[in-house]
Amino acid sequence: MELPFNVANHLDKTLRAAASTLGLAERGFEPEIRVADPANGDFQANGALAFAKREKQNPRALGQQIVDQLGSLKAGFDITLAGPGFINFRIKPEALLTWLEVYDSEEHLQTGASSARAGQTWVVDYSSPNTAKQMHVGHLRSAVIGEAICRLLAFSGAKVIRDNHIGDWGTQFGKLIWAYKRHLDQAALGREPLVEFERLYKLGNQAAESDPAVLAEAQQELVRLQGGDADNLAIWKRINDVSLAAFQEIYDQFGIRFDYTLGESFYNDKVGRVYRELTDCGLAQESQGALVVFHPEHPRFKSQPFIIRKRDGAANYASSDLATILYRVEHFQVDGAAYVIDFRQSDHMDQLFLTAGKWFERTGRKLPQLEHVDFGTVLGEDNKPLKTRSGENIRLKDLLDEARERAYQLVSAKSPEFPEAERRAIAAVVGVASVQYADLSQNRSSDYVFSWDKMISLEGNTAAYLLYAVARIRSIFRRAGLDAAVPPVVGATAPATPQEIALARKLAKFPDAVQLATNTLRPHFLGLYLYELAGDYSTFYAADKVIVDDPAVRARRLLLCHRTLIILETGLHLLGLRTLERM
Ligand code: ARG
Repeated sequence: MELPFNVANHLDKTLRAAASTLGLAERGFEPEIRVADPANGDFQANGALAFAKREKQNPRALGQQIVDQLGSLKAGFDITLAGPGFINFRIKPEALLTWLEVYDSEEHLQTGASSARAGQTWVVDYSSPNTAKQMHVGHLRSAVIGEAICRLLAFSGAKVIRDNHIGDWGTQFGKLIWAYKRHLDQAALGREPLVEFERLYKLGNQAAESDPAVLAEAQQELVRLQGGDADNLAIWKRINDVSLAAFQEIYDQFGIRFDYTLGESFYNDKVGRVYRELTDCGLAQESQGALVVFHPEHPRFKSQPFIIRKRDGAANYASSDLATILYRVEHFQVDGAAYVIDFRQSDHMDQLFLTAGKWFERTGRKLPQLEHVDFGTVLGEDNKPLKTRSGENIRLKDLLDEARERAYQLVSAKSPEFPEAERRAIAAVVGVASVQYADLSQNRSSDYVFSWDKMISLEGNTAAYLLYAVARIRSIFRRAGLDAAVPPVVGATAPATPQEIALARKLAKFPDAVQLATNTLRPHFLGLYLYELAGDYSTFYAADKVIVDDPAVRARRLLLCHRTLIILETGLHLLGLRTLERM
C-alpha cells in the first residue's frame, strides 16, 4: 500500500472519480475533504449531506453508495460511515509506515508539495519601506510575512520573484536635499547615516515650515532632482544606496534576499504611458487639474476618486503602482502578484485593483491575479500601536537587539554549561526567530499584542518551544552516537503504540497544512500545525523509550524521531526561521 504524499488531495480525487461513476459529478457533487477530529479518523468527506439534501435523497444511503465505490482505498484506510453520510478515513499503520519511509528529507517533502499556484510565476511585493528613514516596528510584519509567503509559494512549485518596492521618490527629497547641501554632518553620516538623514529631513521640514523662502528653495531642489540635475541625482542616489545597505542589515537577520529592488523611481519614465492609456480608454479624466479615475459602481469610489496624477503634474503612489502592474506583466509575465501591505492601505489597493481590472479589460490584456495580503497592527500591552515610552516608533534594529539580549537570558538559564560564545550564537537565532514567529503564529489579518515574556518563552506556541523540540530530537541521535543525517531506520515496523500512531498520523498531515497555508497565504496555519506536531512528539517521547534493545521497535521509533525532526525543520524553514543543532 503506497500512500501518496498529500492524502487529502488523493481522497478528493478518488471521491470525485467515484462520484463520476455514480453519475453524481455531473450534478455538482463536491467531496469536501476536511481534516477530521482524530477520534473519528484522519480525514472526512462531508459532501454527501449537502448533495443529498439538494437532490432530496437519503444522505446516509448516498454515503454508502459512495463508500461502495472506494475499494481501491481499502488497503490504506479504515473507512466508516457516520451520521448523515459523513465518510471517515483513518490511515492504517502499515500505510503510515510506507509514507514515513518515502518522505525522508526536506527535498523529498518538497517533491510532493503542490498548491493552487504551482507552475505559476508570482511577484511578492513586500517590505517596501521608504528610504532615508530607519525601519521601525511598523515595517516588521510585511518583511516577516512576505518572506514566509515567498518560501511557501516556492516550495509548492511556483516561480517566485521577490521585489522590494521601496519608496525612493517623493516630495520629501526636496527638503532633504536642501538640508543635505547646507547642514550635513559628515561624521554623523559615517556613524549612523539613516539617523543623520532623519535629522536632516526634520531640519529641512522645520525650516521650510517657518520660512517661505526655504520652502521655495526646497521645492526648487525637488524640481531640479526631477529634471535630472546631476548634483541632486548624486545626493539622491547616495541617500538611497545608504538606506538600502542599512535595510539589508535587517534583512540579513531575517534571511531575506530580494531578487529586485524596483522602487517608485524605477517607474518614473513609465507613468506617461499609464496616463495615456487610461485616458485613451476612457477610464481617466481631468478633475480640478488632476488626472483621476472614478468607479461609479462602487459605494465610496464613485465620489472618492483614485488620483493618478497630481495637480502639479507629478506622479504619485497610484501612478507608479499602475505602471508597476504593467511592468510585471510585460517584463516578468507574472500570473499573480501578492502585495504584503498593512490593512490601512486597503482603499488604495482596492482602487488600484479595480482600476487595473478595467484598464486591462479595455485594452484586451489578461489581468494577473492581484492579492492584497493584508495584516493588522503590532500593539503594545496597552492595546495601542507599539511605541517607545516617549511615544516614538521603535526602531527595528533596537527591537532585534533586545530580542537577542532577552533570548540570551533564556538560553543562559536553560544551558548555563554552554560556552558563552555558543550561548550568544544560539540567542541570535532564538531572539530573531521569536520575533518572527510571534508574528507568523497569528492570523495576519488580526492585530497582535507584542509581549516579550510571551514570545521569548519555552512554553506555548513560541519559536523557542519549537526550536527546542528540534534540538531535543537532535540530541537523542547525538547521545546514541548516531548520525541524524543517516538514521538507522531499516527494518522499522509499523507504528504500534497509541502514541506512535498518533504521532505518525500527525506527520502525514504536513502536506495538508502546507497546502492550506499556501493557498490562503496565511502562514499561521503551518505554525499551528508545527506546534501541535511538537506536542504529539512530546507525548510520544514521554511514553515510549526510543533506544530499546528490540531492533525493529528501536528502528521504528528512530524513524518517528527523524521524520518529526525533518518536518519540524522544513516547516520552520518555510516560515523563514533558522533552526539549531542544540539549545
Ligand atoms: N512604500 C510604501 C509604504 O511605506 C509601501 C509600498 C508597498 N508596495 C506597493 N506596491 N504599493 O507605505
